[in-house]
Amino acid sequence: MTEPRHFLFLSSSSRSNGNTEALAQAAAKHLPTGAKQTWLRHADLPLPAFADIRHSGDGIYPVPEGNARRLLEATLAASDIVFVAPVYWYGLPADAKLYLDHWSGWMRVPGYDFRSRMGGKTMWAVTMLSDLDTAQAEPLLGCLQWTAKYLKMNWGGSLLGYGNKPGDVQVDNGALERAKLLFAA
Ligand SMILES: Cc1cc2nc3c(=O)[nH]c(=O)nc-3n(C[C@H](O)[C@H](O)[C@H](O)COP(=O)(O)O)c2cc1C
Repeated sequence: MTEPRHFLFLSSSSRSNGNTEALAQAAAKHLPTGAKQTWLRHADLPLPAFADIRHSGDGIYPVPEGNARRLLEATLAASDIVFVAPVYWYGLPADAKLYLDHWSGWMRVPGYDFRSRMGGKTMWAVTMLSDLDTAQAEPLLGCLQWTAKYLKMNWGGSLLGYGNKPGDVQVDNGALERAKLLFAA
């Protein structure tokens, strides 16, 4: 029997209950039957600064502690990683980018086998713009898609909404309709 899918929703908005989380929640109502879901906010689990020690000493990273360990283990426990990330200056919010930087260290923590265990998982993006030019989300999506490719993850897809102040996405009917389909395929 195959394991049920487990979706990890990682929110990197710097405000709670913003547009991006609201849109992701709308999409999560249509997860595959039996799928588990876990929601975490980077704002609740701040990570330490990332240090690149790959080329000093033995290049081995220590087993992370605290929030980093929680995020590492939540990441490995999931089959699907959903970046719930508004566009900040055309890219990922700093918290989400820092989390990705830590992946580089987690690949080098003995005993976790992070790199090979990430392979085959699926990455998704739910994002938000306050500009009508959706091309502004391309750097954010490109960063995630290249990262997924590097780790031999599948790309699930993306959902883009329009909103500036909290609540705006609730009148983006196009995005709310697309939310029903994101995880349906
Ligand atoms: C630091 C910062 C940078 C932003 N950069 C962009 C941007 O490059 N393009 C854009 O369309 N909107 C930009 N926005 C607007 C947000 O994407 C928009 O307000 C969104 O609704 C925020 O998501 P949230 O409600 O989930 O927090 C930016 C907002 C902030 C706070």
